[in-house]
Amino acid sequence: MSSSSEKPRRITTHVLQEMKNSGEKISMLTAYDYSLARILDRAGIDVVLVGDSASNVMAGFETTIPITLDAMIYHAGSVVRAVERALVVVDMPFGSYQGNSKEALNSAIRIMKETGAHAVKLEGGQQILESVSRILSAGIPVMGHLGLTPQSIHKFGTYVVRAKVQEEAERLVEDAHLLEQAGCFSIVLEKIPASLGLQVTRELKIPIVGIGAGKFVDGQVLVLHDMLGITQDFSPRFLRRYLNLSQEIGEAVTKYIADIKNNSFPSDKEQY
Ligand code: KIV
Repeated sequence: MSSSSEKPRRITTHVLQEMKNSGEKISMLTAYDYSLARILDRAGIDVVLVGDSASNVMAGFETTIPITLDAMIYHAGSVVRAVERALVVVDMPFGSYQGNSKEALNSAIRIMKETGAHAVKLEGGQQILESVSRILSAGIPVMGHLGLTPQSIHKFGTYVVRAKVQEEAERLVEDAHLLEQAGCFSIVLEKIPASLGLQVTRELKIPIVGIGAGKFVDGQVLVLHDMLGITQDFSPRFLRRYLNLSQEIGEAVTKYIADIKNNSFPSDKEQY
């Protein structure tokens, strides 16, 4: 029997696999701080991603490249302290895992030890397989990320839809299989044709979570600040905005300023 004071069932990588097997869709959002992560967790989100999109939405950089491992650890620790139910996945930042699998393992160990997170996410396929395998060999769950991989933006040159041509689509499918065979528990597919999202989702046993990868994948992820309408200058086709918080917050602050200026805040009841 369950009571309202009982802790909710924790989402693990095994639970995500069960969700795929039973056809239940997986919900995932980014978070970077304690207060918002707590709201997402209490609302019932399955996976909280401490994305390196923190580089854009928290720090104001143009790309995800500048964010450091120390900064990711700071954000991840804040999120982990808020979350009781969701699986917390942390993005390994650019430069912390590419090209040197020992450094990759050290970076992943720092994330796990210093934040208490449950898994890490890395961008790329075949070219980072050694790092993925080494991290997995330490018992750290790994989520892959294929398609548009923002850490490689200077190689791609643009944020357009990936894998539209057959050769790139075939490479993506191969990479997805390699990541599954290596032992990744899930893969994020970003900004690819829906038909390719469907193909990968059908061919792989592990859960596939999409962002701009169509509706046939096993789950969806969005950047929290985009879906809440805090960011305004980013409107890809895949983004559904659930709020217009930028406007609402702006209006609230305007009202607050006016209340101070015209001496209506604080009122008699709001003072000691
Ligand atoms: O950093 C991030 O927010 C991400 C999502 C776009 C999947 O990797």
